[in-house]
Amino acid sequence: MKVAWGGAFFYSTTSRHGNARITLKVVFVEVNFCVICAFPCVQLRISMNHLKIINGDALIELGNIKTNSIDLVIADPPYNLGKDYGNSHDIQGFDDYIAFSRNWLGQTQRILKPTGTLYVFMGFRFISYLYDILDRELKMFFNSWIVWHYTQGIGKTRGFSPRHDDILMFTKSTDFKFNLDRVRVPQKYYRQRNNMRGANPGDVWEFSHVHYCHGNRQNHPTQKPEGLIERMVLASSDEHDIIVDPFVGSGTTLRVCQQLQRHAIGIELNPDYVAMTRHRLEAEFNGFDTVDPRMARVPLNLKP
Ligand SMILES: C[S@@+](CC[C@H](N)C(=O)[O-])C[C@H]1O[C@@H](n2cnc3c(N)ncnc32)[C@H](O)[C@@H]1O
Repeated sequence: MKVAWGGAFFYSTTSRHGNARITLKVVFVEVNFCVICAFPCVQLRISMNHLKIINGDALIELGNIKTNSIDLVIADPPYNLGKDYGNSHDIQGFDDYIAFSRNWLGQTQRILKPTGTLYVFMGFRFISYLYDILDRELKMFFNSWIVWHYTQGIGKTRGFSPRHDDILMFTKSTDFKFNLDRVRVPQKYYRQRNNMRGANPGDVWEFSHVHYCHGNRQNHPTQKPEGLIERMVLASSDEHDIIVDPFVGSGTTLRVCQQLQRHAIGIELNPDYVAMTRHRLEAEFNGFDTVDPRMARVPLNLKP
């Protein structure tokens, strides 16, 4: 018999820069009773994941995080395409945007533990510059250039309609955390030489956008699918690890961390998005909003 109890509470404080910080604490207590011999087999599991949302500027707030203290950074910065995030931070001159990127990437490299990993979403215009900063200036280790393929989006009439975004995965050292078994997808075929626990998902990931009609869709222009973030969190961190998202937006990373028992620190400039994230974290959870279609595969048995 299992008895589980969970609760969540928020509290707010003020940072030394005068910005509001909102902290959500989620507590789970799980007691397992053996139905045969009851008392001697009682197990108590207490887990607490700590989610902190800072309403502030990533360039400042990352500077307050301790060096070598973070297991994973998932960053989805403004791509400098002029999107409306309720501020003017997505339209900077070329040199200003590179300086902005160099600044927060440098902070990221500093706060990651030696075993830590960075995933960064970026558009085609600036991705090569970010690669260069991470590789040559910050001496981080390239691991993967992930293509997030989606099946709907804006249509071009002259040229090919964009159907992917790029994500760079860099690690701080060659001794990084990576849990492949947690993110395997079912094999396409049953064969003895295949690992029937599943295949490596590869570096082309298909997840649909969260459609505007979807129940989990937030009022944010660039909300990312939870399934995408789930894969990064499962592969590159363990339960109770600490994850930083410097550009929270609608709170996708924090929501995933909440459900996967990770601690998380999120930073977001726009107070409306901070409030949106807070509501999202309080909402009932009915499963992640997106899933890799390959998870539905039943391997075809080619050989008896
Ligand atoms: C691409 S969106 C992130 C979307 C997010 N991954 C999601 O799933 O909703 C980038 C976010 O960064 C925020 N932002 C822009 N400049 C910032 C800065 N200097 N510090 C913190 N947040 C910033 C924007 O307000 C925007 O919400």
